[in-house]
Amino acid sequence: MNLFDVYSQYKINFKAGKGLTLTAADGKEYLDFYGGHGVISIGHCHPYYTEKITNQLNTLAFYTNVIQNDIQEELARKLGKISGYNDYNLFLCNSGAEAVENALKIASFHTGKKRILALKGAFHGRTSGALAVTDNESLRSEYNVAHEVTFIELNDVQVLEEELGKEDVAALIIEGIQGVGGVYEPSVEYLQLARNLCTNYNTALILDEIQAGYGRTGKFFAHQYADIKADIITTAKGMGNGFPVAGVLIAPHFEAKKGMLGTTYGGNYLACTAALAVLDVIENENLLENAQRVGDYLFMELKAQDFVKEVRGKGLMIGIEMENAKEMRTKLLMDGKIFTGFSAPATIRLLPPLNITLNDAKRFIQVFNSIHENVSI
Ligand SMILES: Cc1ncc(COP(=O)(O)O)c(C=O)c1O
Repeated sequence: MNLFDVYSQYKINFKAGKGLTLTAADGKEYLDFYGGHGVISIGHCHPYYTEKITNQLNTLAFYTNVIQNDIQEELARKLGKISGYNDYNLFLCNSGAEAVENALKIASFHTGKKRILALKGAFHGRTSGALAVTDNESLRSEYNVAHEVTFIELNDVQVLEEELGKEDVAALIIEGIQGVGGVYEPSVEYLQLARNLCTNYNTALILDEIQAGYGRTGKFFAHQYADIKADIITTAKGMGNGFPVAGVLIAPHFEAKKGMLGTTYGGNYLACTAALAVLDVIENENLLENAQRVGDYLFMELKAQDFVKEVRGKGLMIGIEMENAKEMRTKLLMDGKIFTGFSAPATIRLLPPLNITLNDAKRFIQVFNSIHENVSI
């Protein structure tokens, strides 16, 4: 059997990882400035994380959600405390798309409405509902077109007021910072207005923090820069540092009913252990402060380059718009041995682990600048 051929791939075969370093089969080392799409939050094979999961694997790996699971409760408590969403409830699942799917469903159950407002440029995943709120026609099959979704321009307050004012919207879904779409931020004013309008018109405000959350921007969730509270928040990626785990944080006014949501694997012992270990490391190693500090340095250095058109994002979620960004990304990988990501339009995307050091950041800037100077791209 062959693999279903859906991914464009580089011909590099990583065999090991430690911190920000990835080692390929040929022994070459790479610096990870992308964390596998922002998944690696506390570095590859962090010893504390590895030890916790290994111990749990040797104790109990799985049982179902029909029995009580103390580790889930501990995770909910710890996540509530560290995120500032203490009084919210947590539903655990396995991937980002699944978290979004459940968030949309909760909003619709609660409001009794079905139309969703999503933003142009948004990416929320590839299951049916998540894809319906993703602004990319080319990913949608005929099967996926039945949902009622309206796409509106990011940061256009007038259209936001018009659409929410129709009072038929179950949820407005916004990424904390748009990742796949090119590292674009909702403005503070936009988020604050969205908060007020959603409350007035009985619409659930969903913040998708799957890429921008979990400390990446220097706050636990990116939308916390706007000093607002979302009704529902989705998390995944950095939550498990590579172990598949995702969550939906749900405001207390959403009533849970038995059987309303469910999943076989969601919240399993290994996933919760991984997620707890990530939170312990974020807390013990002050990774929010680190994300802010190293992010500030990268922003300052990148903004100083005249060949860089624009630097967008916050903390360690950085979009570098420049001419020939795609070629630059390939040269960074092949010549500079630094792995980065890419978003349209012409934007290199950086999502390094949150325990990146200032020296790693200096190395990136030095390689980035010298590749641009020495090689005509
Ligand atoms: C903001 C956002 N939401 C949802 C998803 C989907 O997550 P997953 O690939 O785990 O389904 C992604 C993935 O890139 C994302 O960036």
